[in-house]
Amino acid sequence: MRALCWVAADELAVREVPDPELRNERDVIVRVRRSATSGVDLPLLAGRDPLLRAGDVLGTEFLGEVVETGPAVRRHRIGDRVVVGASVACGGCWYCRRGRHSCCDNGGADVASVDPDLVRSDAGCFGRPRAAGGFAGGHAEYVRVPYADVGAFRVPDAVGDDRALFAADAAPTGWLAAELGEVRSGDVVAVWGAGAVGQLTARAATLRGAARVLVVDRHADRLRMAERHAGAETLDYRSTDVAAELRERSGGRGPDVCVVAVGVPPTRSVADRLTGRDVDRPDAVREAVHACRKDGVVVVLGGAQGHVDAFALGAVTDKRLTLRGSRRPDLRDVPMLLHRMARDELRTEHLATHRLPLEDGPRGYALFADRADGCVRAVFTP
Ligand SMILES: NC(=O)c1ccc[n+]([C@@H]2O[C@H](COP(=O)([O-])OP(=O)(O)OC[C@H]3O[C@@H](n4cnc5c(N)ncnc54)[C@H](O)[C@@H]3O)[C@@H](O)[C@H]2O)c1
Ligand SMILES: [Zn+2]
Repeated sequence: MRALCWVAADELAVREVPDPELRNERDVIVRVRRSATSGVDLPLLAGRDPLLRAGDVLGTEFLGEVVETGPAVRRHRIGDRVVVGASVACGGCWYCRRGRHSCCDNGGADVASVDPDLVRSDAGCFGRPRAAGGFAGGHAEYVRVPYADVGAFRVPDAVGDDRALFAADAAPTGWLAAELGEVRSGDVVAVWGAGAVGQLTARAATLRGAARVLVVDRHADRLRMAERHAGAETLDYRSTDVAAELRERSGGRGPDVCVVAVGVPPTRSVADRLTGRDVDRPDAVREAVHACRKDGVVVVLGGAQGHVDAFALGAVTDKRLTLRGSRRPDLRDVPMLLHRMARDELRTEHLATHRLPLEDGPRGYALFADRADGCVRAVFTP
């Protein structure tokens, strides 16, 4: 089959790779109809993960049709249209039984961390290297989906592919952020990052009754989307004193909940420095900790932050903040989000700004990584 593979830093290629096969009785094989780029892929593209190998198939977010089922699969039949949650979780461990699939003991099993200080036995993830279970991703014609009764979800007929696709990762991550932030009716919520995850965090906050949602970014096209589709107010950090503006719009206290959904800032290469190319600012977490009101909640999404020293710990204790984080969503919210999509409460298809054949995967990633031509997500069709 054809698949989009990582080759080397900043080099992707569509290659011929072996078709996936059922390996366990709880597996299904899915024929992919759509897959999307994601912010979590960017550090991989840059070659920052030492466990990534040339030929690894990328793609965390995908949707397709079940074409083969293992003998222990109960919830799926051949022909079902399913969206597959990006987290690979067993469904039976202590964490999964409590709905905390992102912390699954078995999904990313058998991998020792490259950094022993970081605990890395959590859920697996599609399209990630060995440190996340080594599961081949969705930018391919077919994918093996382990624990299919736990992680694959039948899509209601009323929900089209371009909408349901985002129930795999971006929408459940946004929902989890609002939940970890304990967003309540009347809250003021600030979100750093207007990518798909930031926008769907903003939408989740609105659905949970937030009175005001403020989204911070520097990309005007993304900020406009957050206004139009999530009902958010927006701040361009290049031209605004973000801290002052957030205080002003929250009764002088600061937002009740601050969510950081900015991704890992790319390291400025020598070329970037010479050409003065604009890159993301690395300080969103610090900004959120300082901006949040006393007794508020700061939620940090995304992996690979690693160790961040000079962290404003004093602000956390002085202001009695709650600091929470996650680098993967849970799976339990996916059916609820699909129902909201069916009822038109949650619309996501506008995030699919670029639709391309899988063969154009490298070009799609270039657009996405550069945020060029208004690209929020490139969506591939095999
Ligand atoms: N925890 C989870 O469950 C989970 C799941 C999926 C994605 N994520 C994470 O969510 C994050 C966002 O994902 P995405 O796909 O939307 O990424 P994306 O790369 O498409 O968007 C990130 C946005 O953040 C903006 N940004 C960067 N630095 C900023 C700053 N200092 N202040 C304000 N805005 C800034 C960028 O301009 C960009 O628009 C990533 O870190 C990803 O790893 C987490
Ligand atoms: Zn588990």
